[in-house]
Amino acid sequence: MKIYITRQIPEPALKILRDRGYEVTVGDGIRPPTKKEIIKALRKKQYDGVITLLTDPIDGDVFDAVPSAKIFANYAVGYNNIDVKEATKRGITVTNTAGNFSHTVGEHTIALLLSLASNVVRGDRFTRAGKYRGWDPMLFIGTDLPGKTFGIIGAGRIGASAAKMAHRGFGMKVMYTDIVQNEELENECGARRVNTIEELLKESDAVSLHVPLLDSTHHLINEKRLSLMKRTAYLINTSRGQVIDEKALVKALKEDQIAGAALDVYEFEPKITRGLARLQNVVLTPHIASSTVEARSEMSKIVAENVISLLEKGVALNKVNN
Ligand code: GLV
Ligand code: GLV
Repeated sequence: MKIYITRQIPEPALKILRDRGYEVTVGDGIRPPTKKEIIKALRKKQYDGVITLLTDPIDGDVFDAVPSAKIFANYAVGYNNIDVKEATKRGITVTNTAGNFSHTVGEHTIALLLSLASNVVRGDRFTRAGKYRGWDPMLFIGTDLPGKTFGIIGAGRIGASAAKMAHRGFGMKVMYTDIVQNEELENECGARRVNTIEELLKESDAVSLHVPLLDSTHHLINEKRLSLMKRTAYLINTSRGQVIDEKALVKALKEDQIAGAALDVYEFEPKITRGLARLQNVVLTPHIASSTVEARSEMSKIVAENVISLLEKGVALNKVNN
């Protein structure tokens, strides 16, 4: 079997596939390849499967370049970079790497929350800049977390994991919106499900986004919804950048309509919307919420197992199309 991986990923997948006698070719770019470059690479061999990254735009043109491929296995939980409908039409299986590492993204979410509430990043910047002149009772006054409300939009595995940490670790109340009820979260954390995003935004002290990017979630957080949030509230995004209208967010932050935002993903990533990086009340990380040794190894294993299972047994555990 021949497998193409669009860029270097952590070792486990390569080892698993090669130990099984698969021929694995890895794209040698350091930057994300363009669609053109992906097509060019895929035309070289009759690949049976392709492992893609979330930065790879995969659509009908790409599928046409490699008609032999039965599976496109995305090395990511999100798969909005793949035209799944087109894949389904052609009988191609698409998989993601959802698995046993939701807590990793949950931990990053909490790290972002604490960075805001305890002024970690702001204080670090200040100290490094040589501005610290001695203890000051008025310096960087943050926010306590116990009793505050952690509102999650999307209570799937990642959202629920972050909410459990916020509740168990810091005594926060949990509120959520989701199209499906999460009974476990309700039972374990006393989480309250509300029917509308508006209600959640009005009542939460920290709002964290955990939805997939869909037509219906594009700019889910817009100017109008930002205006509903408390002036003391924080917004955290570890899902997909396009879920927030970033221009509206910059405006809301500039005008102190909300207290702060912490983002791991960006609407036009890797570009950062004008004005965002100049604001003091934001914390920005470069799409690294799942970047731990443990999670990335697990993702690498999952992606290889999906490829093998589909090619050898015709079924894949993490199939996302139907
Ligand atoms: C990362 O953003 C992922 O979807 O895994
Ligand atoms: C702070 O350092 C304190 O001692 O209160």
